Amino acid sequence: MSLLTDLSAIVGAAFERLGLDAALGEVVRSQRPELGQFQCNGALAGAKAAGRNPRDLASAVVEQLAAEPMIARLDLAGPGFINLDVTDGCLADRLAALAADDRFGVQQESPRKVIVDYGGANVAKDLHVGHIRVALIGESIKRMFRLAGHDVIGDVHLGDWGAPMGQLITEMEDRFPGLPYFDPDHEGGYPERSPVTIEDLQEMYPEAARKVADDPDFAARSRAATVALQAGRPGYRALWEHFCAVSIEALRSVYDALGVEFDLWLGEASVHDRIAPMVERMKDGGVAHVSDGALVVEVAKPDDSREIPPLMLVNSRGAFTYATSDLATIEERVDDFAAQEIVYIVDLRQSLHFEQVFRTARLAGMAGDDVILDHSGNGTVNGPDGRPFKTRAGGIPRLRDTIAEAIARAATRLDESDLATEYPEAERQEIARRVGLAALKYGELANHRASDYSFDLDRFTQLQGKTGPYIQYVTARASSLLARAAHLGFVPGDPAPPGNDAERALIIELAHFPEVFDRALTGRAPNVLAEYAYDLAGRFNRFYDACHVLTEADEGRRSSWLRLVETTLRELALVLDLLGIEVPQRM
Ligand code: ARG
Repeated sequence: MSLLTDLSAIVGAAFERLGLDAALGEVVRSQRPELGQFQCNGALAGAKAAGRNPRDLASAVVEQLAAEPMIARLDLAGPGFINLDVTDGCLADRLAALAADDRFGVQQESPRKVIVDYGGANVAKDLHVGHIRVALIGESIKRMFRLAGHDVIGDVHLGDWGAPMGQLITEMEDRFPGLPYFDPDHEGGYPERSPVTIEDLQEMYPEAARKVADDPDFAARSRAATVALQAGRPGYRALWEHFCAVSIEALRSVYDALGVEFDLWLGEASVHDRIAPMVERMKDGGVAHVSDGALVVEVAKPDDSREIPPLMLVNSRGAFTYATSDLATIEERVDDFAAQEIVYIVDLRQSLHFEQVFRTARLAGMAGDDVILDHSGNGTVNGPDGRPFKTRAGGIPRLRDTIAEAIARAATRLDESDLATEYPEAERQEIARRVGLAALKYGELANHRASDYSFDLDRFTQLQGKTGPYIQYVTARASSLLARAAHLGFVPGDPAPPGNDAERALIIELAHFPEVFDRALTGRAPNVLAEYAYDLAGRFNRFYDACHVLTEADEGRRSSWLRLVETTLRELALVLDLLGIEVPQRM
């Protein structure tokens, strides 16, 4: 139970004793800490419902609470707000409970099977800076679900099956017609070694796309190649497998560098065999019907506020679409993985697509009411000038270059601030890596996923202000305080009642984590955690300045403070871990 739920229960019981709804007793953190630590505003709504004077009701509630052992001080403000402080003994008990709990008060939810679909990288294409959003947001949301106790699977869900595959095959055939992949009469196996590198593919991809636009013959051959690939032509399949393998290897190295880990490396192709029977079933069941030579599903509803066009299941050329593949994937996830919730971290610009797919999945029975389908969309990344991100040369920066640059800048920042200078070189590099990644990740995750933001490594890598490196610096400060204490033979002990406001504020902040976590998970909003990490770091700094732990003569007080430091460090590290950020031991 969290501090706020306990307080709400106590104040709720007071309302109940007065014949009113217990829910009115909801206690929240005070908006104005100078008036009290917590507040309850329920008397205003309660008075309205009961036709009473709000201030009278509030003072009746205060009277009811007079003997509560957890509450140290109560008063009335304005038209009927109740302000309250808890006792220092209560705060000491809270700290003891938090110190003994690896989840810091977060309740285990009843476990669901959740699939988080994030990544969405495409075969033959490099990751660019824009891909950082989905990767980092998805990773964080996956970790949150895990902490809540759910059984979570992260799927990269590669784009590996659409029209670009036929375009690449056609481009290859034009360049290397003698390869066995193109000989329909080829007997036996195909070479094990890939005929192309990832660099070749990345160069061919835009070239082929350009030809599709300029050259109708190339476009027609590409379409035919896609159809033949999907129909299982062995040479094309063998070549395509090489495309996938070299792409996955390259993608993996970037995701690894970011610390983003997928449990599944499935893609659109994985569900290919499900598509034909699924389409057949939808036709037979009357869910899909023919319109202008295509097979479509009407998904509009009478009360739609925007126009939702029919979902295209099979287009007029007989090809399956992106939507068909996502539908078959829902079927696969529900049937084979027993998914109860599927969360898509995908660009907001695809929201219509997901709306159509989700509605169709409900209509066609792929997902019953017991399966949650959720598109938690993200906005885009802009450059520091607020305009679409471009390098000096005009392209979009490659993600691997961005990561390297963040780490290099972190190293420079550390040098400029005289941090980590006398540590061994390998440790310095590891610190720079952690700090650089923290800069990148915090810079991303501090923004609500749905809003666009300006990508600015200069700002992100600063050691002061609302940045990842600043928060890491605070954790390093706590670590080194604990290390110095241990060196002096001082160890954390039982929490004693706090003796000053900085200490009280830090404990109250620590105890707030369950509500913060709840809000972050429900809203699929890592920025709520990012904000909290910053607040917690600030509270710790104020405590650190106010309480001189190592020179404190009272042993009980000192060991209690060390417990507070140790607990803050562990909780902050957990919050950062939910954001994918690693803390250095020292800086
Ligand atoms: N590969 C897609 C793209 O580049 C994103 C895939 C997202 N996931 C999904 N299940 N549709 O737009």
